[in-house]
Amino acid sequence: MSILFATQGIEGPAKKFIHGNTKEIMSIKQQSMKYPMEITHDIFPRVQPHFYSWMKLYGMNFLTWAGLQPHMVITELELAKEILNDKEGMNPKIKIRGIVKKLLGDGLVVAEGEKWSKVRKLANHAFYAENLKDMVPAMIASVEIMLEKWRDYEGKEIDVCKEFMVLGSEVISRTAFGSSYLEGKNIFEMLTRLGFIVAKSSKKYRFPCIEKIFRTEYDIESDRIVQSLRDSIMAIVKNREEKVMTGEADNFGSDFLGSLLKVHHDSDKKNRISVDDVIDECKVFYIAGHETTSSLLSWTSLLLAIHPDWQEKARKEVLELYGKENPTSEGLARMKIVTMIINESLRLYSPAASLVRRVKSRVRLGKYEFPRNMELHIPQLALHRYPEIWGEDAHLFKPDRFAEGVAKATKNNPMAFLPFGSGPRTCIGLNFATNEVKIALSMVLQRYKFTSSPNYVHPPLLIITLRPLHGVQIMLEPVVV
Ligand code: HEM
Repeated sequence: MSILFATQGIEGPAKKFIHGNTKEIMSIKQQSMKYPMEITHDIFPRVQPHFYSWMKLYGMNFLTWAGLQPHMVITELELAKEILNDKEGMNPKIKIRGIVKKLLGDGLVVAEGEKWSKVRKLANHAFYAENLKDMVPAMIASVEIMLEKWRDYEGKEIDVCKEFMVLGSEVISRTAFGSSYLEGKNIFEMLTRLGFIVAKSSKKYRFPCIEKIFRTEYDIESDRIVQSLRDSIMAIVKNREEKVMTGEADNFGSDFLGSLLKVHHDSDKKNRISVDDVIDECKVFYIAGHETTSSLLSWTSLLLAIHPDWQEKARKEVLELYGKENPTSEGLARMKIVTMIINESLRLYSPAASLVRRVKSRVRLGKYEFPRNMELHIPQLALHRYPEIWGEDAHLFKPDRFAEGVAKATKNNPMAFLPFGSGPRTCIGLNFATNEVKIALSMVLQRYKFTSSPNYVHPPLLIITLRPLHGVQIMLEPVVV
């Protein structure tokens, strides 16, 4: 296989025996985490230092190895678009295994073919514009609960990262599953623990055959969590089913869980999805729906805390639109400044920092020929920072670049903005997430002015999503109108 790469002039760090480049990657990352980081938005060298240094050595596209598995890292925009926009299924999602498989199951994020299109249709419907409108009151109610607690922090420091994690969980519990945060609380705790185990175990490369024979303490713990997760989700499912069986409700509901259950009980066997599918989809939506959105809210709050001019502009817009009243779904569509700020935050701190695909069968992509099963990694954080695309000020927070919308934010590459991916697998929760973030920001800005606390330390860390390593501490001052 190496000959195929060499003859095409594909370069990359030397492949080491058994481990490929995994040990080197760990050591580069550890080295980079040793030093404190000043507050700069030039975070790519810190978050993905291995990609950063290898891009300088080997160019925009280069080869790395996870054990015996070749990974092509692609930061050339045209090639990235070709891969993501594949409609023939030639570049499917990667096959997950081990503990990641326990976390995501066969849910929508990783599913392929018929199964993917069936659930994608269901999810499209559940997150369709009209349904999103109906979710606004639940989002507002969740933010109100959060802000009630914030009263105790007036004039003091608060870690908004923790707050937004709870908010994200509350919102997805209420809107997608019709349950409260408390009901979903232990599900989130289990998913968070499983996410932590995934992050820990991804630091070591294990051969698939060894993985099955030698079980680590993490394997054992994750099995236990998966079983408890299943029990907890089943309790929510059974509760919903019972309401229909006893006549308390006349259908399963119009939220995502309701759509899943409707198909699970379809009178035509061919259309049905299994109970395992229902559980996997619930897990995926709990995970995808809250981590990313809370990460976006945390980074946006930090940006507004350190850029008071933009915080003031955002507040002015919010007060002009809603005064002291709660946001409305009509108002959300008219929020221009806040949308620009959210886009700039997504560009600089994309919560899902990399997109990954695999080569289904030997294929020509751009000028390269890739072998079957090769993994293709597209780090958005790199693409979002090219001065050739975004200008010499690419590392700076300048929401103005989005003043005329996403398509005109770059000189000549309307498709260079990829925080939600691109093509058929684009994020299904895009509008859901932006609504939630606009509502939360509006309600916070109506009530509080905030600055960054001296206790805030910057390093962002990539553990599945891009998170502030030590939280985002801000100082809250009530707005006097
Ligand atoms: C700021 C918030 C969010 C960001 C940045 C984000 C980012 C992404 C990205 C980049 C992808 C594409 C992955 C790929 O192409 O490999 C994706 C897919 C997905 N997202 Fe999101 N997401 C966010 C919020 C949400 C929410 C709120 C939900 C659910 C309520 C959600 C559900 C999904 C699902 C189910 C997929 C898989 C879609 C498919 O494969 O067909 N996401 N997301």
